[in-house]
Amino acid sequence: MPYRLTVLGTGYLGATHAACMAELGFDVLALDVDERKIERLRRGDLPIHEPGLEELLKRNLAAGRLRFTTSYEEVARFGDVHFICVGTPQRSDGYAADTSYLDAVVDSLAPLLDRECLVVGKSTVPVGTAERIAEKLVRLAPAGVQVELAWNPEFLREGHAVQDTLRPDRIVLGVASERAEKILREVYAPLGDVPIVVTDYATAELVKSAANAFLATKISFINAMAEVCEAAGADVTQLARALSYDERIGGRYLNPGVGFGGGCLPKDIRAFMARATELGADRAVAFLQEVDAINQRRRTRVVELARELAGGTFEGRRAAVLGAAFKPHSDDIRDSPALDVAVRIARLGGTVTVYDPVALDNARAAYPDLEYAESALEAARGADVVLLLTEWPEFAALDPDELSTVVRERNIVDGRLVLDAEAWRSAGWTYRALGRP
Ligand code: UDX
Repeated sequence: MPYRLTVLGTGYLGATHAACMAELGFDVLALDVDERKIERLRRGDLPIHEPGLEELLKRNLAAGRLRFTTSYEEVARFGDVHFICVGTPQRSDGYAADTSYLDAVVDSLAPLLDRECLVVGKSTVPVGTAERIAEKLVRLAPAGVQVELAWNPEFLREGHAVQDTLRPDRIVLGVASERAEKILREVYAPLGDVPIVVTDYATAELVKSAANAFLATKISFINAMAEVCEAAGADVTQLARALSYDERIGGRYLNPGVGFGGGCLPKDIRAFMARATELGADRAVAFLQEVDAINQRRRTRVVELARELAGGTFEGRRAAVLGAAFKPHSDDIRDSPALDVAVRIARLGGTVTVYDPVALDNARAAYPDLEYAESALEAARGADVVLLLTEWPEFAALDPDELSTVVRERNIVDGRLVLDAEAWRSAGWTYRALGRP
């Protein structure tokens, strides 16, 4: 008998997981405490920009395989397997992750469970959390109800969430019993031949922290090389290309630029440092301080480059910031390098106009004091300096001659190293990039 699945939390992770599991043929009930979000999802109106996801949502709603609720009672009655997909943001009092949403889900769900089921954590958590949640789950569940926890970290990238969920590189199962392993193998069987690593809770939790730490390190490594390239008059894009042909290094995730942002990498490496320090392993992750510092320096450097181009000051100058999302194909602006740079320039006295193809509403809501435009050309009107900070394909395709007709001064900072420097220079622009002579 196929399992009935529930998904708790309908953010990027939960909405994607729910729609993809329904697409695989399961009956799925997804819960959120935010009634407005649930109302929208019921109408097939996805609150986030994620390529391909809204089609999946609509198709599975229409097929009756996917439903949404705000009722924990309904979820408890419905589900054989409950996936917890809530966020674990950075705490306001430091680097540690805030696991209170996770606790709230278990506090609400566990007492209502009335039959045998499996609860599966997918959120990114400090190592040791699963052990604690497992104990709590059993303690809060009614006597005689057989319930168990598994930990199954999620590795999806925003902008590629559907593809990453339906065709994952690997599946990691942190389990405490063969029964839990068997259930999850059956749930993921429709994905076909995907490597599955079966392990304990702590290792499963750590795989996610380690993966994000490695990825952040790879980006900061190439950005550190960009700093050296700048000092030496070398070109980091050619350096990265040459490195990429070494199969041991590989070319993916080696794009230099203004660095990483988003809701995951920055907070996850900080939470990892905080947790490792609690465990007495602070020396082991001390390098992540440097990874974080290199990443922050890239933003400072972009601001410096723009100020140089603007004539040494932002007072009385206009800057056009192209990009607001933390990366292309997403409307997520959490810890976005582009908006961070925009805010810094505004604080230094500049007038900043931001344009992004999909993230403008989110940016406006979070930073109402910046100016916004409905196109790159409009943002660049009267600008003394243009900054490309999110590598949307439409920015890489910008025509320097066309842009020349609207700006006040032809100055451009390529914060993602996607423009053809020669083409811009021969169109009369002063082109500057991080890590290029
Ligand atoms: C990341 C991880 O990739 C994913 O596995 C994990 O589950 C969550 O965190 P995501 O935050 O969606 O996913 O985006 P990702 O594509 O990894 O990019 C993160 C940031 O790094 C972006 O700001 C991006 O612009 C930047 N980046 C990425 C670079 O600066 N250079 C690169 O080569 C790659």
